[in-house]
Formats: sequence, structure tokens, C-alpha cells
Amino acid sequence: MLLNDKVALITGGASGIGEATAKLFKAEGAEVVLTDVDEVAGMRVMHEIGSGAHFLQCDVTSEEQVRAVIGEIAEKYGRLDCAVNNAGVTGVPANIEATSLDNWMKVTQVNLTGVFLCLKHEISQMLIQGMGSIVNVSSGAGLIAVPSMAPYCASKHALLGLTKTAATENLTRGIRVNAVLPGSTKTPLLERTLSISDDMEEMILNSIPCGQFGRAEQIAEGIAWLCSDRASFVSGASLNIDYGTVCR
Ligand SMILES: NC(=O)c1ccc[n+]([C@@H]2O[C@H](COP(=O)([O-])OP(=O)(O)OC[C@H]3O[C@@H](n4cnc5c(N)ncnc54)[C@H](O)[C@@H]3O)[C@@H](O)[C@H]2O)c1
Repeated sequence: MLLNDKVALITGGASGIGEATAKLFKAEGAEVVLTDVDEVAGMRVMHEIGSGAHFLQCDVTSEEQVRAVIGEIAEKYGRLDCAVNNAGVTGVPANIEATSLDNWMKVTQVNLTGVFLCLKHEISQMLIQGMGSIVNVSSGAGLIAVPSMAPYCASKHALLGLTKTAATENLTRGIRVNAVLPGSTKTPLLERTLSISDDMEEMILNSIPCGQFGRAEQIAEGIAWLCSDRASFVSGASLNIDYGTVCR
């Protein structure tokens, strides 16, 4: 199996891409610790996966909570092999002149500061072990403009710089850091975006070459491979998983 006996942390694991990733990681042999702010949904996913899955409530914007989660993992398993920094939010859609500072702060806190805090504590633990693999979940919005989603777009662009820096700092220390850039994927996050206007679904589908939304399981496959030892020569990479949407 791809992730046999790996100990893996997945943030935002209670829904969508994080949930699919947690389920795939378990199927591929990993011990899975999923975290999320949403305790009810997190417990549901943990019970659906069954043995070998654990849920810890954690807000990625709280350094205290992130530190506590990594500490619990280290105490229980003695190591953290893989980490998927997936928790993210889109915020309230609006052009920049109508975007509140509060909305800007909330989105960048989760999507950027949250990943920074996770990286900081994951890398600290992985340095003790001398090995580890981390995947940050960016977005196609990390490469191209998305009108009315400036905080989301800016945070996902910045996440690529953060990923490359983390990868470079750790090239000689046994820790690989990569990013995936999902295209529009059918999850509760996308459903919320689609509900903004009647023509939103058609507009987004028209931008995808195959005319179909991605499935969370398809994104999870790329994440699992990057985390696995089969990607042992891959660090600092950004993997688009979007059926060619942003490469054209
Ligand atoms: N669905 C898409 O089309 C799409 C496309 C590109 C990138 N992404 C990215 O993929 C990731 C997962 O998105 P999804 O579509 O599965 O969304 P989702 O809303 O289904 O799941 C996101 C999860 O993150 C959790 N979360 C939110 N804020 C948090 C916080 N502060 N601390 C901990 N957990 C928190 C939520 O409770 C939720 O369970 C996000 O980073 C998103 O930006 C999604």
C-alpha cells in the first residue's frame, strides 16, 4: 500500500477534499489523524473510517491548538510522517473596493497564517525524526486571477511561495514539501460558491476543458502520491489537478 504504517495529519479533514484524503490515506495503510474546527463533522468522518482514524478538534489559526495537536501525535505515535495542510475558506465574494478588512483577515488567517502555523510545528517534529513529507492545498486560484475573491486568490498565490520556501529550507534535512492546486471540485465549499448566482455553475463548468467538476477523491490521489515514498525525488513542486484548466 502507498502509505503503509505512515502516521498522517490532515487538517480540514471533516469535509470535501480533506475527508476524501483521510479516507484514501486509511485505505492506503496510514494511521490518520484528522483535525477540523467542526467537531460534529470530524467525529462523523472518524466513525465512518473506523479503527486507525482519530479526530482532534483544532482551529489552524490558533498556534496553541496546532502545537497541542502535533504534541499529541508525537506522544501517541512517536512521529509524524505526513501532513496535509488542507483547511481553507473562500470568504464573502466581493470586488476589492467592497471587501471588508474583516473578510480579508479571516480568509488570509485560515488559508495562509494557518498553513504557516501548521508548517512551523510539523517541521519542528519532522526535524526530530529527520524525515517527513508535507502537502499544502493551494488552488488554481494560486496561479490565475479570480475576480471577487481577492483574499482567497492572494492567499492561495502566497501559499505557493510559502511552499517553495519551506521546501528549500528542508532540502538537506529529509523533509519534502509540495503543493497541490485543485481545480473546481464538488465539495461543500464549491456548493457554497455555486449558490452565489444562477449562472455560476454554467460559468465555472465552461472554464473546465472536460466540462465536469473534479471529485474530491481525484484530488486525494495526487496528495497521497506526493506524501508517499514513491514521490521521494519530488520537493518544491506544484501539482495542478484540474484537467488542464489553468495551463491553457
Ligand atoms: N472545492 C474546490 O473547488 C477547491 C478548489 C481549489 C482548492 N480548494 C482548496 O481545498 C481545500 C479544501 O476545500 P474543500 O473544497 O474540501 O472545502 P470544504 O469546505 O468542504 O472543507 C474545508 C474544511 O476546512 C475546515 N476549516 C475551515 N476553517 C478552518 C480552521 N480555521 N481550522 C480548521 N479547519 C477549518 C472546514 O470546517 C471544513 O471541514 C481548501 O484549502 C480549498 O481552498 C478547493
